[in-house]
Amino acid sequence: MSTNPSNTQHGASQIGETTPVWLDPAHCSIDEFRVVVEQDTHPATVPLARAVVSAIPIYDAEDIGQLDDNPDRQRAFMAEWNRVFASGAGAFVVRRTYRDAELLDAVTDVLNGIFAEEAKTHSAGGGDHFAPAGANSRLWNAHEKLCVANPELFARYNANPVVPLASRAWLGPAYQITSAVNVVHPGSKAQSCHRDYHMGFQDVDTLQKYPASVHRLSATLTLQGTIAHSAMPVESGPTKLLPFSQCYLPGYLATHQSSFHDYFEEHHVQLPLEKGDTMFFNPAVFHAAGENRTSDIQRFANLLQIGSGYGRSIEYVDRLRMSIALYPALRQLKQSAALDATELETVIAASAEGYPFPANLDIDSPLSGMAAALRDALCAQQARKRSH
Ligand SMILES: [Fe+2]
Repeated sequence: MSTNPSNTQHGASQIGETTPVWLDPAHCSIDEFRVVVEQDTHPATVPLARAVVSAIPIYDAEDIGQLDDNPDRQRAFMAEWNRVFASGAGAFVVRRTYRDAELLDAVTDVLNGIFAEEAKTHSAGGGDHFAPAGANSRLWNAHEKLCVANPELFARYNANPVVPLASRAWLGPAYQITSAVNVVHPGSKAQSCHRDYHMGFQDVDTLQKYPASVHRLSATLTLQGTIAHSAMPVESGPTKLLPFSQCYLPGYLATHQSSFHDYFEEHHVQLPLEKGDTMFFNPAVFHAAGENRTSDIQRFANLLQIGSGYGRSIEYVDRLRMSIALYPALRQLKQSAALDATELETVIAASAEGYPFPANLDIDSPLSGMAAALRDALCAQQARKRSH
């Protein structure tokens, strides 16, 4: 239990008068943690889900439809997902997000080609967070690399409505997608339990320098997503999750403590994914990639980290380079009616810079409005110039 008797609400997500401003490791309490995480998801709280499995709501992409099908229904999905991220299980699965297996396989082939090229030049990322060396293969910044390698395929892959809906549900518009492919080899060991970027990447000393209000803020600035490019039965080690753990305020500090790791290993849940399924979770949910106990499954996932326009994304992504590569493909897809206007907008949102700051206020005068010209508009202008 806490060593400070004046602090009585360490596990609560609300910041009240009795919540300490400066959290330290002594504020972490397994007993208080249990109160937060030992709950279930009542199906009545997630009416749009088709099922609840191990407290995780399961949706079906067929129920969601296309982005311009039924705006009211999609707002209802986003509202339900926002509550799941904020105060519910913290994670959900969308079955059959990618029903076009040919498209998914084509993307996998391009990504494997990039893996092979990087292996030749030894320029691959070289290491991973929270996993021993050699356990898996990582392709960092796969988002930009796929876009430049095959813009038409990138556009069709990113026209899918589920990722933008999940992104907007948690982050609002102007989100920024980054992605890293993770291929977990047969026999690979599990990751250690952790939270994710931002504060999940910081050590205990650094965490203590941020007030509790920022501990709470961190998880609202990013969203984690997984696109399953291969089947992921439980024995292949899909992500282990501890539902509701995003609600535990001192959780960034707690992930550095062995008692919380032990609790996680005893109580986590793990859902199998089929090829084409997606899973999304609040980055503050305690989680870890599982052990691949198979002898023959290369578990292949494209891991999305989607950043708020209000925050700093985890990776450098050259969005002007992406826009220039994409523009001719988007023009062709528009002319051939392969993608409709909403899908084209979705692809642009997945690639271009959609937030107008930071700006050069000497050039983008505040007199012309509070927000400078959108940088995706500038990117598009550059792309048009270069394609002619
Ligand atoms: Fe992670």
